[in-house]
Amino acid sequence: MKALVVGNGGREHALAWKLLESPGIEEIMCVPGNGGTATLPGCRNLGLALDDFEGIARVALVNNLSLVVVGPEQPLADGIADYLSQQGLLVFGPTQAGAQIEASKAWAKALMAEAQIPTAAARVFTDAAAAIAYLQAQPLPIVVKADGLAAGKGVTVAQTRAAAVAAVEAAFEGQFGAAGHQVVIEACLTGQEASVLAVTDGDTIVPLMPAQDHKQIGEGDTGANTGGMGTYAPTPVITPEILDKVQEQILEPAIALLKQREIDYRGVLYAGLMISPEGEPTVIEFNCRFGDPETQVVLPLLETPLEEVLLACAEKRLASLPPLRWRAASAACVVAAAGGYPDSYQKGMPIAGLDAAAAKGALVFHAGTQLKGGHIAASGGRVLGVTAVGETFDNALETAYAAMAEIEFDTMYYRRDIGFRVRQS
Ligand code: AMP
Ligand code: GLY
Repeated sequence: MKALVVGNGGREHALAWKLLESPGIEEIMCVPGNGGTATLPGCRNLGLALDDFEGIARVALVNNLSLVVVGPEQPLADGIADYLSQQGLLVFGPTQAGAQIEASKAWAKALMAEAQIPTAAARVFTDAAAAIAYLQAQPLPIVVKADGLAAGKGVTVAQTRAAAVAAVEAAFEGQFGAAGHQVVIEACLTGQEASVLAVTDGDTIVPLMPAQDHKQIGEGDTGANTGGMGTYAPTPVITPEILDKVQEQILEPAIALLKQREIDYRGVLYAGLMISPEGEPTVIEFNCRFGDPETQVVLPLLETPLEEVLLACAEKRLASLPPLRWRAASAACVVAAAGGYPDSYQKGMPIAGLDAAAAKGALVFHAGTQLKGGHIAASGGRVLGVTAVGETFDNALETAYAAMAEIEFDTMYYRRDIGFRVRQS
């Protein structure tokens, strides 16, 4: 079969690579893809924009593609799955109604309240004065979130009341565009964060291997929030007992309520969790898509052919898919970013050492890269996700860092402490 992957990040490179591992996959097309998918044997980039739903439908129909896999949240929130399904295509990714679980934090909070899913206590505000008045009596730290999609920048964990007020004002002054017209203020959770990505057909929901991400730019998990600077799977913070709780208290009730609301949800439900010291999982947020860079560590461990899983979701027969098979191994991913990210950064720098990194046994997933004149150059904030699988967590991490040492580009930055919590535990 042939399939289309929509997106241009490390997650989409990993999806294309994993799909192509299956003998059942003849070709992958990627819209618009990146330097990694451009150079992946069996994969072809198509020069269409992410919001060109008509163009995407046309190429998928003309090429007889069996499945469209949507990577990023924005096209899902804009209704790409609805549009492509109406054109008769099979899509992995929720409808616009389902994507609200990520695209509106207020909507997600209301869903969690109704389904009695454990999450931080929160209030939603549509004007700054009321939000600021409410803040005065709240314990610190306190979390201020722009309601809509803000590319990971809409959340402030405020240590002082002044910082919380500033975050509220910035949102209502339009710093996040329409995403900030509504603000969620919620209690600050403590514990360890973890990501459980689950695949669902809207009836059945199956968790993938739990992962942990380092969201902050600086070592020791300090500094600004990013899309994610490094991940690993599995993670000792999610024990089998905790995963059972995530399934029973979070994933099942969420899918049951979406179904009750007649929302067609076929794709990934990603639960961003805080695990308390007592082992209780609480939802920080839901995402309506695969995590990036969680996908880069989860997929290399999956033994079941990926297209079987995605098709079972898209065709609403996940209940009859045999249990997923996983490699008894660990995976680690270290992100190389352009200096300055997540603020402004340079683009266009040539990247050296990709073959040498692969020769060390790593999978080098491209995030922000482009193929230009036969060479790979940086084109985004997160540039590469250097990933390795090992028998143990330490082996995986060692290989990823050994491969990273081979790579060079101007302004390159990466964290040298990915996995420090596991090493401490
Ligand atoms: P979100 O976009 O909701 O995942 O938030 C981004 C990051 O902010 C999360 O990964 C957490 O590190 C942090 N965060 C969000 N909400 C909370 C909360 N209620 N308590 C503590 N940290 C939070
Ligand atoms: N790595 C965090 C995310 O995908 O949202």
